[in-house]
Amino acid sequence: MKKLPVILAVDTKDELIADQLISSVSNKIDHIKLGLEFYLKNGADSVARLQQKHQFELFLDLKLHDIPNTVGAATAQVASLKPKFLTVHASGGSAMIQAAATNAPETDITAVTILTSLSQDDLNEIGYEGTPQSRAIEMAKLAVKAGAKAIVCSPLEIEGIRAAIPNEISIITPGIRPKGSAGSDDQKRVLDPKSAIQAGANYLVIGRPITGASDMAAAAKAIFEETR
Ligand code: C5P
Repeated sequence: MKKLPVILAVDTKDELIADQLISSVSNKIDHIKLGLEFYLKNGADSVARLQQKHQFELFLDLKLHDIPNTVGAATAQVASLKPKFLTVHASGGSAMIQAAATNAPETDITAVTILTSLSQDDLNEIGYEGTPQSRAIEMAKLAVKAGAKAIVCSPLEIEGIRAAIPNEISIITPGIRPKGSAGSDDQKRVLDPKSAIQAGANYLVIGRPITGASDMAAAAKAIFEETR
């Protein structure tokens, strides 16, 4: 069966729970996102164990953000896991993104633009000028120029980013909430799966709408139906 263009956000610190989450969707989803919570608790060996067992494509969501030398060295440390995607914050700047790309040549360095949990008010508070959309577009342009091969943005920003960047890049969007979802949790700039695919997303990052469901396989299947 064709797999979904979905990256499952396995947001847990527990290897056994991660193992169960991955197993229960494995016939529909073959891209798995492991992030800071999991990595900081368990480390690279645990990530490698899960990869070995389930043979998934790894989206390593470490959202690196530091001086170029430090990010380059950190990237080199995880390159042996061969993540398909490794996230860095675009706001770290060109040299930092370039350092990551140089140190993990087999990985698509994936630049996070404006977090989907941030609203216009949050941006104003940080001191960023413009709208989330205009900021995300500028950050995406900078990141791709510096060597990023994929961009994380809100589904509401996909079209603007595609229009501004001629290169072949993967656009990956969190902030996905299926139609009829009870709430959006801490996500503020959200869209439903079908609209995000229609807008041009290559992959949807989905966590709680699947991992919080009593029947995760059924939740993944419902999303599959919704995207057709
Ligand atoms: O549970 P939910 O579907 O909201 O999970 C979304 C996932 O995507 C989380 O793991 C979060 O860290 C991640 N993410 C995000 N916004 C970004 C980048 C990553 O929500 N800009």
